[in-house]
Amino acid sequence: MNYWVYRAPSSVRDLFLDYIERDKGASIKEDHSMTQISKSNWNSDTKDPTFARLFQKYYFEGYTHFLYEKVKRDFDWTNMWYQVYEKNSSDCHDFHNHFPGISLANVFYVELKSRELVTQFKDMSQPDVNEGDTLIFDPTLMHRSPPNNTSDRKVVISFNVNFL
Ligand SMILES: [Fe+2]
Repeated sequence: MNYWVYRAPSSVRDLFLDYIERDKGASIKEDHSMTQISKSNWNSDTKDPTFARLFQKYYFEGYTHFLYEKVKRDFDWTNMWYQVYEKNSSDCHDFHNHFPGISLANVFYVELKSRELVTQFKDMSQPDVNEGDTLIFDPTLMHRSPPNNTSDRKVVISFNVNFL
């Protein structure tokens, strides 16, 4: 497997954009990497249960139908969070992976206007993804969200999936 792409209905994008706009969230800044993110609910202190309910009800069911056809086994999401990379901010999620203990890593591109902002991999060419797509990939692969010095915002929901 290189990667898979699941495309959610566009109404799902709108629903999450609306939620993220209203959610308080928090910024992220790491001392020893390039990572800085304007707004996220990565920290569980700022994550409210509504987000998980929306995710389960409006997104994960469709995703499940898609992925089950690929893997033919049961799975569930373990954690998920949104990240907002503001325009002209250098917002970046530096190279990292999601290993160990994760079966699949996922990035749902809720807002993606610029090709420059697509997830970059150390050992895989740039995936062919667009706004509204979910990139499903091997969580051991090193990847990053490149510094956003474009005039477009990028908004993603990342989540991890484990086979049961
Ligand atoms: Fe990641």
